Amino acid sequence: MECSWKTVLLLVCASLGVQYTAIRTLRDSLSGPCQGAYRCWRTSCDDSWLPMASPRKHILLFATTRSGSSFTGQLLNQHPGVFYVFEPLYHVQQAFTNSSSRLRRTLDRRALLGAYRDLLLNLYTCELHFMENYIRPEPQDHITSSFFRRSSSHALCSPPVCSDGVVAAASDPPDETWCPKKCGALNLTLASMSCLSRGHVAVKTVRVPEVGDLRTLTEDPRLDLKIVHLVRDPRAILASRMMAFSDQFRAWKIWNATGRQPRYVDLSQITGTCKDMAASVETGLQRPAWLRGRYLLVRYEDLAFNPKDKASEIYKFAGLEMEDRVRTWIAKNTNSNASSPSEWNYRYSTTRDSRVTAESWRLRLGFDIVRTVQNLCNDTLALLGYKQVRSAAELKNLSQS
Ligand SMILES: *[C@@H]1O[C@H](CO)[C@@H](O)[C@H](O)[C@H]1NC(C)=O
Ligand SMILES: *[C@@H]1O[C@H](CO)[C@@H](O)[C@H](O)[C@H]1NC(C)=O
Ligand SMILES: *[C@@H]1O[C@H](CO)[C@@H](O)[C@H](O)[C@H]1NC(C)=O
Ligand SMILES: *[C@@H]1O[C@H](CO)[C@@H](O)[C@H](O)[C@H]1NC(C)=O
Ligand SMILES: *[C@@H]1O[C@H](CO)[C@@H](O)[C@H](O)[C@H]1NC(C)=O
Ligand SMILES: *[C@@H]1O[C@H](CO)[C@@H](O)[C@H](O)[C@H]1NC(C)=O
Repeated sequence: MECSWKTVLLLVCASLGVQYTAIRTLRDSLSGPCQGAYRCWRTSCDDSWLPMASPRKHILLFATTRSGSSFTGQLLNQHPGVFYVFEPLYHVQQAFTNSSSRLRRTLDRRALLGAYRDLLLNLYTCELHFMENYIRPEPQDHITSSFFRRSSSHALCSPPVCSDGVVAAASDPPDETWCPKKCGALNLTLASMSCLSRGHVAVKTVRVPEVGDLRTLTEDPRLDLKIVHLVRDPRAILASRMMAFSDQFRAWKIWNATGRQPRYVDLSQITGTCKDMAASVETGLQRPAWLRGRYLLVRYEDLAFNPKDKASEIYKFAGLEMEDRVRTWIAKNTNSNASSPSEWNYRYSTTRDSRVTAESWRLRLGFDIVRTVQNLCNDTLALLGYKQVRSAAELKNLSQS
């Protein structure tokens, strides 16, 4: 009898499959703290050795600067079972960038992306202490006052992390400082505990260039990663960056004001944004095996014009229930009755009339700039279905979408 290694392997696999099914069935029929309530699977039920993904969802809001990701991230942050972190990779980038310039020059991109992925994996498994490698100044006794944009996360500003947080979180945060003022410095041990006590983890980042850079995370058997790829019209991204980062975009503002392109204007940033966005969309739409069922493409404009339906779609994709708190937040933050933007720290505010915001770039950019961006990004615009404008009159005529 010929018994090749393939046959053996097949038998082993088949028997593992049977065992696994049995374990699943057993687990599903168990009555106890694990049934239904998924929150405790990792802490007290210790079934993390199971070869299949846990019911814990790991959501990555994968976006680019000024693409509406603060707003979209808030949709996830509102869910009471989600531990949400706003741009943790900021700390990694800071730590790498503050190295000596010599190291920076020789530092290859792979090392930085690897550090990004390590941090994401540790956050998804609630090891918040891992952030201590990057936070500057270095946390003492697991305590830090320098956690980037902590106020953006409900979990980091409410119990058990912050005993004073219930009251504070009830009203929408008006600025960046309210949470540290109410809650004091952040205890990362408590943050890890809060993460474990919530059912799911969501992270927003604008620092990973392409979806392909996330591959080892989608393939990691410890995670059930769902990537929400948020894109936005590059012309709107540019207009928004010009408003938010005026120093960096001084040359563009001169161009906008004078209608003449300064020689020193830097076109590479917006070109890079368009290239990365298109590359990720192409990868996503090709549906490679490592990304299948794990990638959702969302145009910010569709979300802004139809927030309820798009939010449900995102929640469905993520495998989460859309809680009432999410619906309430949408109702409050997407109509024209939203509180005035001037009450907010403009740079990162999310409370605005989302429809007006989506098209406001058309009044903020001169036609000359628009035409240049359209030439630089024509493939990306075509791929994502954004129309090009042909004249200044068409640009300013908002009755044409
Ligand atoms: C950056 O490095 C310099 C010198 O190496 C140090 O003095 C400074 O505190 C560092 N800044 C941060 C934000 O880590
Ligand atoms: C941080 O929280 C942990 C867990 O509650 C606690 O044991 C520790 O003492 C806290 N650290 C400080 C410095 O308060
Ligand atoms: C918006 O405000 C106007 C007047 O301030 C009010 O009449 C209207 O009912 C409000 N709409 C919503 C959806 O709250
Ligand atoms: C560009 O110029 C227009 C006026 O021509 C102005 O309304 C708009 O705010 C400017 N945009 C930016 C981003 O500065
Ligand atoms: C974009 O522009 C390039 C160069 O002008 C051209 O070759 C390409 O066909 C254009 N793509 C689309 C989708 O129009
Ligand atoms: C704006 O576009 C609409 C629809 O195409 C058109 O009917 C209208 O005449 C345009 N307005 C101006 C001022 O060009």
